[in-house]
Amino acid sequence: MSPTRTSDVLVVGGGIIGLVTAWRAAQRGLATAVVDPEPGGGAARVAAGMLAAVTELHYGEETLLGLNLASARRYPGFAAELTELTGHDLGYRACGTLAVALDADDRAHLRELHALQQRSGLDSQWLSGRDCRRLEPMLAPGVRGGLRVDGDHQIDPRRLAAALVTACERAGVTVHRARAERLVVAGDRATGVVTADGTELGAGQVVLAAGSLSGRLAGVPADVLPPVRPVKGQVVRLTMPARHGPFLNRTVRAVVRGSHVYLVPRENGELVIGATSEEMGWDTTVTAGGVYELLRDAHELVPGITELPLTETLAGLRPASPDNAPLLGPTELEGLLLATGHHRNGVLLTPVTGDAMAEALTTGALPEVARPFTPRRFGAAVRTEQPA
Ligand code: GLY
Repeated sequence: MSPTRTSDVLVVGGGIIGLVTAWRAAQRGLATAVVDPEPGGGAARVAAGMLAAVTELHYGEETLLGLNLASARRYPGFAAELTELTGHDLGYRACGTLAVALDADDRAHLRELHALQQRSGLDSQWLSGRDCRRLEPMLAPGVRGGLRVDGDHQIDPRRLAAALVTACERAGVTVHRARAERLVVAGDRATGVVTADGTELGAGQVVLAAGSLSGRLAGVPADVLPPVRPVKGQVVRLTMPARHGPFLNRTVRAVVRGSHVYLVPRENGELVIGATSEEMGWDTTVTAGGVYELLRDAHELVPGITELPLTETLAGLRPASPDNAPLLGPTELEGLLLATGHHRNGVLLTPVTGDAMAEALTTGALPEVARPFTPRRFGAAVRTEQPA
């Protein structure tokens, strides 16, 4: 084994969640390192980057809503700080979102969502089909109504990841371009990891932030292994014409025959259409069926997409937890913390995750807003289920 290199904090995983954790920890004066074969990669390479706390509200996720809103509120300041520090334009766009209905079932679904949003004190406005088309002239004539949510914005996750890599470099974070193979546990605490080439990276605290791979690191004791699973999402990227004014002004989304579809127009002309949601294990194949369904549903919403060049198809893995909410902060194993399980909300939750993890790493405790997301919520449930 190669000699040990040590830091105060070692973050396993250099996706946006690992990078924001490392950056914020380094800003607090902790000697921080990240280990990842491809820093800046991961699910953010595929994600559309909707900041959709209101339009992605689901029944039973009211606690998560609090965290999502807290992060959405931090976004303007977070994006400005990151741009100021790194010079990177993040593609942050306060454009709002329009969720539309194509038939009576979609309309009923959207009415339910509107009622839930209102009960939750959220800002959204019901529009007739005609008013939807007035806002977005490219919408299909058959649109029956919609919800205008001016507070759900977007960011370009690839640019966000690149900016976080630069921010980490500037803050003095050491980046090990390697794959973490095994957690090292000495006595009753985590003390580092061993990489694929046998190097031991020692640390005062280890943060497991490896997305859907977080549940697979060897050496993590079974009772603290995060219960995350991969949920596959396929996306398609098209290019919008520059010449006739905006193709779409804001994110447009709908539920079509039970499947969610969204179209996210970027200022640089990219139109991201997503996303499938598939329980397919570790498979990241782009399938004809997945692309067909996305284009078919998007075409029902915005028929003009068939004229646009198709520039990319890609699949990624959302790290999903049993309650669809992230696992943040200390585990029952001394020295091991988690920042994973962000499922559909990784991009949205990046600012609040960085702040919460930096707090946990410096003080040992999560801030109030993140406390419901302790990984211990699952450990306790497992233990009470065991026979006496
Ligand atoms: N939040 C969008 C998605 O997970 O597809």
